[in-house]
Amino acid sequence: MKNIMTCIGIAKSYGSGDILEHVLKRVDLEFHEGQASVLVGPSGSGKTTLLSILGCLLAPSEGQLLITDQHVNFTDKSSLTEVRRQKLGFIFQHAQLLPFLTIEENLAIVGRNAGMMEEDIKQRLDGLLHRLELQAMRYKHPAQLSGGQRQRVAIARALLHRPSIVLADEPTAALDWNTGKTVVELLLEQARTEQAVLVVVTHDTRMLPLFDRILSIADGILSEQEQTAAAENIFYTQP
Ligand SMILES: Nc1ncnc2c1ncn2[C@@H]1O[C@H](COP(=O)(O)OP(=O)(O)O)[C@@H](O)[C@H]1O
Ligand SMILES: [Mg+2]
Repeated sequence: MKNIMTCIGIAKSYGSGDILEHVLKRVDLEFHEGQASVLVGPSGSGKTTLLSILGCLLAPSEGQLLITDQHVNFTDKSSLTEVRRQKLGFIFQHAQLLPFLTIEENLAIVGRNAGMMEEDIKQRLDGLLHRLELQAMRYKHPAQLSGGQRQRVAIARALLHRPSIVLADEPTAALDWNTGKTVVELLLEQARTEQAVLVVVTHDTRMLPLFDRILSIADGILSEQEQTAAAENIFYTQP
């Protein structure tokens, strides 16, 4: 399996001098093609911090991030933008679509930023809108959609340019269980179809059995839990 993303000794502290907060102490991790991970941990444990580093939005205090064998240079803003536009797709708690653009325009912009040809963008848009059951929403604006529909658009937007890495920070926190589960299942299906690395932060332990790997952060340390029948139990006993 191809290695897509590697963290080597990644640490992150906030603040300065005596009031340094060591949020991540040392993270060593590898992510392979097509692998779907869920990231859990108490509130304030550093999940968003880690996801922001993986997404090249935040520089680590120490350590290295490699994306498809290339060292990410966090001091070079233009190469960071390029990596984000070509290799990464993001999904947030609230879809964060551009309110003055239609759904189609919100999606097309991502393809243009990644340098895709217009014809390719159109085909990709048609395919994703169809699979995510959003055709009827194509010419609408984000405010005309429900929360679940907006998150489905956010999935399409994150995947449109076929990124090798898709990161989602509590994508279902604003949705009810059934809508949220459907959103995560679609996200998993699309990421697997594209063989993308997927990392999803969630508070909902019922989601854990859907993923290949369970990563958990506590006290600045990241550990991997085994994906076991116990997790399946959580899934079935707390509908
Ligand atoms: N920009 C920042 N400046 C200072 N402290 C921050 C900043 N971002 C996050 N923190 C602190 O780092 C810790 C981890 O935050 P975060 O990564 O958002 O955790 P989580 O997503 O797990 O809730 C928290 O104590 C938070 O207050
Ligand atoms: Mg967070």
